[in-house]
Amino acid sequence: MSKGMILATTLEELRAARGLLGAPLGLVPTMGYLHAGHISLVERARAECASVAVSIFVNPTQFGPKEDLASYPRNLPGDLKLLEDAGVNLVWMPTAEIMYPPDFQTWVNVEGLTSPLEGAMRPGHFRGVTTVVAKLFNAIQPQKAYFGQKDAQQAAVIRRMTHDLNFPIEIVVCPIKREADGLAMSSRNAYLNPAERQAATVLFCALNAAQAAYAAGERNADSLRQAMSDTINAEPLARLQYISCADNDSLEELKTVTGKTLLSMAVYLGKTRLIDNFILGE
Ligand code: PAJ
Repeated sequence: MSKGMILATTLEELRAARGLLGAPLGLVPTMGYLHAGHISLVERARAECASVAVSIFVNPTQFGPKEDLASYPRNLPGDLKLLEDAGVNLVWMPTAEIMYPPDFQTWVNVEGLTSPLEGAMRPGHFRGVTTVVAKLFNAIQPQKAYFGQKDAQQAAVIRRMTHDLNFPIEIVVCPIKREADGLAMSSRNAYLNPAERQAATVLFCALNAAQAAYAAGERNADSLRQAMSDTINAEPLARLQYISCADNDSLEELKTVTGKTLLSMAVYLGKTRLIDNFILGE
């Protein structure tokens, strides 16, 4: 590799490579099938750190039994090309056997913050996320780690875990990267057929409708939720799973919007489940 990007699979390879990297080291954890959203995290890490590591691991424990683990999109050669072009120093691609050896029985679980929203719809999901991220933190020992606001609750849960477990790691949350028509970039957008892809802009439209109502002075949370669900329900290809107007720190549903507020939703387009969010009052 011309720019000297190191590829590691085993823990021994990782540790040998880790020793060569300058501090601070920034880590971008991913599940691969990389897009410009992931690369925006890499670029932020490059701007702030002496060296950058990216992990690629489709983490089985964060998928529910009826979710898309088997079909989750993969493109390792394409991913490595993007990462090399982005100036990444180290890519760790552990196997499932390395991350979950036989008889694995140790889990990291964040309690309260994982109850609502994604946690309510995807039981066990965040336990899988926090367990794998804690393992990535321990194995790679970065000084900073980069996550996307796209997964707002995930970012909040990882902040909580990092603080609660005293990891000496700064968590940096980066803005949502969107397609030209507003659709938040996601590896799962690859599942959408052309009609669903077009209809998928409805999530961004719904967030905009609520934001417009907020800008016009609306502070009643039910009215903001209604503005979002009306927009989603007007799209025949979309099926709303949940809509939320919650306090940005506690993630508790609000009656009245006062401080920083997280608007968020999960919507099915056919079999594909998409999420999106927007923060009011920033
Ligand atoms: P993955 O879905 O691959 O996402 C990796 C990181 O990229 C996450 O922090 C996610 O929030 C961020 N990201 C995804 N789409 C984005 C977008 N459009 N704009 C900005 N950032 C975006 O999230 C995971 O993987 C996993 O749960 C992981 C943290 C790696 C643990 O397995």
